[in-house]
Amino acid sequence: MSGRKMYKIVSIPGDGIGPEVVAGALEVLNAVSKKHGFEVAVEEHLFGGASYDVHGSMLTDETLEACKNCDAVLLGAVGGPKWENLPHAEKPEAALLKIRKELGLFANLRPAKVYDALVASSSLRPEVVKGTDFMVFRELTGGIYFGQPRGYDENRGWNTMVYERYEVERIARLAFEFAKKRGNAKVTSIDKANVLEVSQFWRNIVHEVHQDFPEIELVDMYVDNAAMQVVRNPKQFEVIVTSNLFGDILSDISGMITGSLGMLPSASIGSEHALYEPIHGSAPDIAGQNKANPIATIASLAMMFENSFNMPEVAGDIYAAIEGALAAGFRTGDIAAPGEAISSTTEMTAAILARI
Ligand code: IPM
Ligand code: MG
Repeated sequence: MSGRKMYKIVSIPGDGIGPEVVAGALEVLNAVSKKHGFEVAVEEHLFGGASYDVHGSMLTDETLEACKNCDAVLLGAVGGPKWENLPHAEKPEAALLKIRKELGLFANLRPAKVYDALVASSSLRPEVVKGTDFMVFRELTGGIYFGQPRGYDENRGWNTMVYERYEVERIARLAFEFAKKRGNAKVTSIDKANVLEVSQFWRNIVHEVHQDFPEIELVDMYVDNAAMQVVRNPKQFEVIVTSNLFGDILSDISGMITGSLGMLPSASIGSEHALYEPIHGSAPDIAGQNKANPIATIASLAMMFENSFNMPEVAGDIYAAIEGALAAGFRTGDIAAPGEAISSTTEMTAAILARI
């Protein structure tokens, strides 16, 4: 994709604080495009509750088509109490799974990075978390989330955890390639191979793919132990690769120990499409109050430049501006220590923009 001058981005503000944080990220997008001399066309679409209220559907064909016909999607957040009691198939969760599957977003990248300026906000001791910086590669379109058969009746409920060879191969390859770019970082593959056949299979395939990356260290770990290790000594991890359900759980634990969910971006990538979004939710309790932390969404934009547009220098500018704003003392409510002055969403955005 590099060398192209015009990037087509679909923006999906979504629900709750989504519109406020996406607005901040779009201002940053505008600033970096001017600075680095490329053009972007941003097209806004509805998704989630905002779409349901207008069209009676969380994900319309129109939005899905737009996402398929752009270079990258930037998503705020979806869902909220207003839509919680809908039938299962109509809920925001179902729409999220559908968009992942339809766009083929098989890899979900969730960094767990502890910013030095925010070490004190972690629930763990500073000496345990300081310096933590690892990436979770979560498989996103397979495993028990999508396996058949599934269902329940009066007396039984069932789901199926199943992986095809190609599904494990492609996520493992992506994780090893990423590790290679990070200077041959160690890869930890997390499974439950002591109990589950599907995990034994996962482990075998990951080891097969590893043969192509002999310079990279591969460690296998059971998921229960991994959950413990993440809170015991998070610095032992550099790259984690794991299945859909285990990754769902482990990425929440990993994000939480950084003490700053409002800071963490994510990328969901496939072979043709990509979607970038903050890992936090729609936070309906503070929506519309100019209180949300826009950093996770702005950092998601940086991940877009790294992964979709191959412009690491633009991503670097964005990360540096974020760090600069933090170093200058700007804090939204979620990351402010007691007694520290609190910046609004728009003040934090402006502080970052000023450093681009
Ligand atoms: C996530 C969320 C989703 C998931 C839910 C909302 C369907 O927890 O993105 O981690 O389980 O994948
Ligand atoms: Mg989750």
